[in-house]
Amino acid sequence: MSSGTTLSGGKSEQDSKDPIVTYEVRADRVAVVTIDDSAETLNTIGPRFGEELTQTLSKLAEDGEVVAIVVRSGKKDSFVVGANIDFLSAIRVASEASTLAGELAKRLGALRKGKPIVAAVHGAALGGGFELALAARAIVASDHKKTVFGLPEVQLGLLPAANGMLRVAERAGLATALDLALTGKNLRPAKAKKLGLVDEVCPEAVLVEVAAELAKKLSRQKIIPKKATKLDAAGITKLLLEENPIGKKILFSKAREATRKKTRGHYPATERILDVLELYAKKGFAAAAELEAKHFGELVVSESSRQLRSIFFATTALKKDSGVDDTKAVARPVTKIGMLGAGLMGGGIAYITSQAGIAVRLKDKDDAGVGRGLKYVREIVDERVKRRSVTREERDQQLALVSGTTDYSGMKNAEVVIEAVFEDIALKHSVLTDVEKATSASTIFASNTSSLPITRIAEAASRPQNVVGMHYFSPVHKMPLLEVVRAKLTSDETVVTAVALGKKQGKTVIVVNDGVGFYTTRILAPYLNEAAYLVSEGIPIESIDKALLDWGFPVGAIKLIDEVGIDVGAHVGKITLDAFGDRMRPPPGLEKLVKDGRAGKKNKKGFYLYDGDKKTAGKKVDPSVYTLLGVTPDKTLKAEEIQMRCALTFVNEAVRCLEEGILRSPRDGDIGAIFGLGFPPFRGGPFRYVDTVSAREIVKRLRGYEAKFGERFTPAKLLVEMGDHDKTFY
Ligand code: NAI
Repeated sequence: MSSGTTLSGGKSEQDSKDPIVTYEVRADRVAVVTIDDSAETLNTIGPRFGEELTQTLSKLAEDGEVVAIVVRSGKKDSFVVGANIDFLSAIRVASEASTLAGELAKRLGALRKGKPIVAAVHGAALGGGFELALAARAIVASDHKKTVFGLPEVQLGLLPAANGMLRVAERAGLATALDLALTGKNLRPAKAKKLGLVDEVCPEAVLVEVAAELAKKLSRQKIIPKKATKLDAAGITKLLLEENPIGKKILFSKAREATRKKTRGHYPATERILDVLELYAKKGFAAAAELEAKHFGELVVSESSRQLRSIFFATTALKKDSGVDDTKAVARPVTKIGMLGAGLMGGGIAYITSQAGIAVRLKDKDDAGVGRGLKYVREIVDERVKRRSVTREERDQQLALVSGTTDYSGMKNAEVVIEAVFEDIALKHSVLTDVEKATSASTIFASNTSSLPITRIAEAASRPQNVVGMHYFSPVHKMPLLEVVRAKLTSDETVVTAVALGKKQGKTVIVVNDGVGFYTTRILAPYLNEAAYLVSEGIPIESIDKALLDWGFPVGAIKLIDEVGIDVGAHVGKITLDAFGDRMRPPPGLEKLVKDGRAGKKNKKGFYLYDGDKKTAGKKVDPSVYTLLGVTPDKTLKAEEIQMRCALTFVNEAVRCLEEGILRSPRDGDIGAIFGLGFPPFRGGPFRYVDTVSAREIVKRLRGYEAKFGERFTPAKLLVEMGDHDKTFY
């Protein structure tokens, strides 16, 4: 047995002298190469890593004793999670990034030649990490739930630049390559094997052994393992679409059409991914690889990628943020929660909590309510089993964590109780008093109210330091944000415990100070109001929603009112009007819709028509809305006017939240708006948007509207001050 390390003389980007790549040659002449960047918790691909890997592998290539190589990670539960993107920010010229990408691709490409290399993957192999594994002759994966494969570069406005996309296409076909590269989604090992991306799946304990056996076999056979080609329905479709020129054309034109419908041209990375894969289909690997490096360079310096990367850095920073400043407060461990209200929100919160391995005692008024909540959880997990995202055993383990009740039994030892009962202050007070009686003195009471100030809810508490807001978004299992609301008397310990719980539930968490509508509900209110004003002016609903979709919002504002519920909107509208006065006054007429029994999507009566099947429901405007409101929708307004009026009220209110100390930082404001409300990610959030356009220009536009429409456009003081001094938020 022999072992060694290859030290690059270059300066480390991780400021560590320890080698990242080491190896050991086993008695059976298989070299096991271990990647372990001791300076970081996760392995990422940086320049030093590339150099060390190349040096190690060329040393092993020359070593006559070695017959085959296994590459594994030294990290506990992750393989390699992508390229280190920090250094991309310093790049100003596209060609510089293209060259870097080309070099990395070449280094990885060399892995295919010579002695067989098998990647032994346990934990996440994402982006560059997946590309590294794909460059090996074969991949063996552990069946652990932390093992996932994916190409998430598109989420950063980039494309995978080390030929990973092309290798996915080689192994699993064009449709799979398009799907992975355009969505950035993760694959579990079983699915990856089924698609032909992974050669073997085995338990973690025998991973290196299985990989070594396969490597030795390959060294004897000197052939690349073939994946089985099954002619099932999927196989036939693949044959028709991918194996002939007309089929390929259809595949790409369909993919382009579907992509453009979603991106509306705002995400150039998706177009470039399509270009590269289309060229691969027409001209093969080498030509596509060249284009890939070129496009990568252009995307690195693009505005959209710059903004998307800033979101990535902000979420990474939030993961490390305890939620309070300058304190040593430590989060209490949470092993069990009580969940009051098994409705839409309660069911969703029970699901994400049990998914985090935390027990949930779910309470509703009666058995029917509890049953609905339990069914809601079960349906989401069943769907995931169907999609092979979890195994049956994992489902059973998760469901065993959720139990139901109609009283407070079994809640005594819950460290946190979250309430999502009806939005009614008297009811919130009464459940708070009950919870204090039924639980221990340290139990935290968290409210998922969307509009009631937490300080007001806490008035009924004998332990107000334990009361906090945990504002989730619907549907809870899909929406990434949690807004933790700190009331006047909430303790630091309560805040950090709520934040830690939210992170465990898989959420990106921002902490805001208490106030009517907190941050998210508050900035949404004037935005939705403005859209309603446009309707009352006779602008057709379709053109309002289309303009906002074109600006980059995921749904139009009027459609969003239907989704939230017109009744809920009107209710919250009253609360914000009371708190903030005339600038939040909704246009007259909304109450007529409520009186007419229009609640929106939930009762299939709203601004849009909801009868018909899934395809048609919610697509056409209900013309009787105009009659009820007494308006004729015959006016036209330029899309830009619609976009500016709505977006600027949103942005202006966000700045007010910072000015008043509701927000802790512009970063939290950007993340809250993007993850909670769908503010266009490629614009970086309201604060980065102001920085891009300039505060001076935003104030000028707001003043223009203020002159026309009055105080709902009066610019925030902070914005004016920043405009006057040409300051930026970042
Ligand atoms: P929902 O009507 O679907 O569920 C409320 C549940 O609470 C019902 O099952 C009801 O039977 C139960 N309930 C009522 N009194 C109870 C009591 N004393 N003990 C136990 N259970 C009781 O309502 P949803 O939509 O889940 O909303 C709940 C809370 O979450 C509200 O405060 C709402 O403002 C807030 N919220 C709602 C969002 C949404 O999009 N629906 C988003 C964010 C917050």
